[in-house]
Amino acid sequence: MLKIIGTGRAVPDFIADNAFFERLVDTSDEWIVSRTGIKTRHILTEGSLTELAFKAAKNALDNANIKPNDLDLIICSSLQGDYITPSLACCVKSKIKATCPAFDINAACAGFIYSLNVAAGLIKSEIYNNVLIISAERLSKFVDYTDRSTCVLFGDGAGAAVVTEGNALRYINVGTEEGIELLFANSGLPQNCFTKKREQGFITMNGPEIFKFATQTVLSAIKDVGKRLSIKADDIKWFLLHQANGRIIDTIRKTLKQPQEKFPENHSKFGNTSAASIPMLMDELNREGKFKKGDLLFLSAFGGGLTKGSCVITWDK
Ligand code: UT7
Repeated sequence: MLKIIGTGRAVPDFIADNAFFERLVDTSDEWIVSRTGIKTRHILTEGSLTELAFKAAKNALDNANIKPNDLDLIICSSLQGDYITPSLACCVKSKIKATCPAFDINAACAGFIYSLNVAAGLIKSEIYNNVLIISAERLSKFVDYTDRSTCVLFGDGAGAAVVTEGNALRYINVGTEEGIELLFANSGLPQNCFTKKREQGFITMNGPEIFKFATQTVLSAIKDVGKRLSIKADDIKWFLLHQANGRIIDTIRKTLKQPQEKFPENHSKFGNTSAASIPMLMDELNREGKFKKGDLLFLSAFGGGLTKGSCVITWDK
């Protein structure tokens, strides 16, 4: 179906540490670190999400050693691009000077896995060959910086991957669960054409319920992988999990009785960057030369919707 031939990432320059939030709301470095593992996050205070997504895309294309003209499709996953229209994918396409089709997917934090699933189907049907996937998020746009239960969690960032025809994707499964009210944000724009009354557009989340959903989702995906591929958690070299909270990752790791080094993290530096968290992490490990050809990677994400998605990929670059 597909293999990954290049990765990239980009984060904005402005860094907000926990002391920044101690000045904004009734919180503490101790609470944030012990409950989430987050120490800093990057926030897009200047420039556009398109520019951030473009940098990640450019890095992925260079890493894959392919030119924008060689692309057959661009898929962006994001909660929202810079515009309602054009799509973020079209904005990036124009900036990298590609000529291929481009569209957005919104599957919240599971957006990167959903994009891989769509790309895999289109590559398998021989409709497209080289696909650029970008997951780029400007969560700071939706965060209420007076709500301590959410503002400390999220950061902005972009991750990208170039995929092409190959046999590296061993398993992929995306889905949904009931729970729209557990995690949502609207556009903040008026919905009623006559009253033009503005909606409150901030992220609202039932953290403890999402925490349970997250751990159950990842653990049941691992079970399913075990059944379908006849492999055990021990056979997986890298667990690249959505970086929402260090305690979620640790609960999963301990249940699976796996060592810490198989669960790399980036939430301590970048916070929860939604769909961007997994491709950003993948790029970091790729550039550090951590992945060896043949390594089995397990990717799993969960988010608003509720969306969920997991896959197993052999590193084949
Ligand atoms: O990417 C999408 C998926 N999202 C997630 O996976 C997030 C999953 N959920 C979580 O990561 C955790 O539930 C949170 C980090 C959001 C919250 O941690 P928690 O341990 O579940 O805390 P809680 O919501 O149960 O709140 C415990 C206490 C409350 O105070 P009381 O009622 O016990 O007095 C909160 O008001 O912690 C308080 N609290 C805070 N205190 C200091 C909540 N936020 C803060 C804060 N600083 N920033």
